[in-house]
Amino acid sequence: MNKLFLIPLMLLATLMLTAACSEDEPLTDGQEQVTPGEDDGEEGNGRYLVLYCSRTGNTERMAQIIQSTLDCDMIVVEPETPYEDDYNAMLDRAQAELDAIEQGNYPAITTSVESFDEYDIVFIGYPIWYGHIATPMQTFLHNHADLLAGKRIVLFASSGSNGIGTSERDAATLVPDAVFEESLLLTSSTLGNMATRIPEWLESLGASREEPDAPDAASLNINIIVGEQTITVTMEDNGAARDFLSRLPLEVTLEDYNNGTEKIFYPDPALSLDDTPRGCAPVAGDITIYEPWGNVAIFCRDWSESNSLIKIGHIDGDGISLLQGTESVNVRFERQ
Ligand SMILES: Cc1cc2nc3c(=O)[nH]c(=O)nc-3n(C[C@H](O)[C@H](O)[C@H](O)COP(=O)(O)O)c2cc1C
Repeated sequence: MNKLFLIPLMLLATLMLTAACSEDEPLTDGQEQVTPGEDDGEEGNGRYLVLYCSRTGNTERMAQIIQSTLDCDMIVVEPETPYEDDYNAMLDRAQAELDAIEQGNYPAITTSVESFDEYDIVFIGYPIWYGHIATPMQTFLHNHADLLAGKRIVLFASSGSNGIGTSERDAATLVPDAVFEESLLLTSSTLGNMATRIPEWLESLGASREEPDAPDAASLNINIIVGEQTITVTMEDNGAARDFLSRLPLEVTLEDYNNGTEKIFYPDPALSLDDTPRGCAPVAGDITIYEPWGNVAIFCRDWSESNSLIKIGHIDGDGISLLQGTESVNVRFERQ
């Protein structure tokens, strides 16, 4: 796009909103590793993370509304070299950095994140620069592509007037294995409505500050989901069963062992056996640990007593019939 044509649009957007610039915040030397919720950003409920970069504060204000609506963690992505104050110099720098990215050279940033494991959705916000994701966020996505693989990502952006489509394609290229949900773009003519637009959009995504219904931590009842069907299980009240419960929900593939006798998988790390009595004469439906190997073994038929077997639960009723046979089965263990 012609740079001269862009300038009036961008000036308009910049004049309309005069929020604090993230470049005013002090930078630390070198790259800073951030453990979300600990030493950077706001502390929140842990299910959502808002990551953003912003030069003149528009995207930052969007990020703040998302953060306060969801009461979640938030991290600002900072360039190693602070943004230029001079607007034309900034345009030149952005163009040079975008050209460098095309050659595979990403401009340095000071922000990195160790893990996204605790988040259901990661919100990624940026200004549109020449139709693309602003360069600091491109670097961040490039640097964290592996950690973000499989994550649900929601993009939000601000621009003078440009659409978000090109930048959505940037994101899909930078983090090919993420799952992208409905993005939000606000332009200079809609940024003023962010206080209503953002909560509406979050609602359409099903994102809210409500905690999911907390399972009864003391309950020993769990479900095993097999395809569309649910098997109910009553767990034992021992240390290994409690360790198992603490890892739920858990998705595993159960493999056949001994020609239809057991369905097994290997918890990683192995379950703690503290405070757990040894020895069991398994009957069909018993969920056990085989101590020498550390695997979980669900018995599909009655079997002989062994001191190496440790019972941690039993499948209710005739639920075991769904696991019988020699095929591998994908299941999800979850609390009731
Ligand atoms: C280097 C640069 C390039 C820009 N390119 C575009 C563009 O291609 N299309 C557009 O509509 N706005 C463009 N803008 C305007 C910004 O996207 C807009 O002002 C945005 O709201 C700034 O967000 P921020 O305040 O979070 O930095 C550009 C701004 C800069 C600084």
